[in-house]
Amino acid sequence: MIIISCGNSVDIAKKLAKQLKVKYSPLTVSAFPDGDIYLKFNTELKGKKVVIVQSFQPHSDMSLFDIVFAAETAKDLGAKKVILAAPYLAYMRQDKRFNPGEAISSRIMAKLLNGCIDKIITIDPHIHRYKSLKDIFTISTKKMTANLVMADYIKKRIKSGVIIGPDWESYQWAEEIANKIKFECTVFKKTRFSSRHVEEEMIKPVELKGKNVVIVDDIISTGHTMIEAAKKARKMKAKSVMAIGVHGLFVENGLKKMESYFDSIVTTNCIEHKTNKIDISPLLLEELKKEK
Ligand code: R5P
Repeated sequence: MIIISCGNSVDIAKKLAKQLKVKYSPLTVSAFPDGDIYLKFNTELKGKKVVIVQSFQPHSDMSLFDIVFAAETAKDLGAKKVILAAPYLAYMRQDKRFNPGEAISSRIMAKLLNGCIDKIITIDPHIHRYKSLKDIFTISTKKMTANLVMADYIKKRIKSGVIIGPDWESYQWAEEIANKIKFECTVFKKTRFSSRHVEEEMIKPVELKGKNVVIVDDIISTGHTMIEAAKKARKMKAKSVMAIGVHGLFVENGLKKMESYFDSIVTTNCIEHKTNKIDISPLLLEELKKEK
């Protein structure tokens, strides 16, 4: 087995290689003067299992391109199996045609990967209208969750409190985490007016006054969902408000916008960011050990 990275998730790739006691070999990825991608493997691949460790952020479009080029090249160079360990899988939110003429990006992304990868391992992909990854992938898939490591992180810092999912899809994270650490749990109703405008409403009433509130979501993108949920918690006189996201994208200065509403903002290292406090590499390690 060989672990490679295309530029994202380098720390996780190195960590996995060390723990699996296999070679880590970064790819050379650059561009020709006209912008065409240039990609080169720097190790022998014949007969080997190649694990590409690559999150889809930053730059989801180029990340996908790098993965497709790397996987195709690995096969061409004789790799026995190509596994993609993508802690964050992008494009999953566009899971239907919301407006006439739109691309269903998740299907297109999956189709590209189905053609060149043998197995995909990912963490908390945004599965909303699909039932599972099998709805779009024909290759072997393994979906892992950061719920337990997030629950441990919270429990070590807060004795009791309320976990809030800011929309009904996030209930799958909020409820499991709350059950694990015996916190109360509620879910808000989110109305999305645009990519940058959401409204939050509490539908299952829970007292927040004087309580520690932890808002849990899979993706923090612009941060508006988290901010609107935090505003509600502050209005209800919560004692403290923490944000935890599995995938912290923080686009458009999201972190700066969020800061004044939260006591702390924490993410897993599915996407490298200064808010990373929770390591998900043990999850990938567990699955990759089976492949060794
Ligand atoms: C969507 O339903 C996701 O679970 C997140 O709630 C969403 O991506 C967050 O986006 P933003 O941070 O831009 O509000």
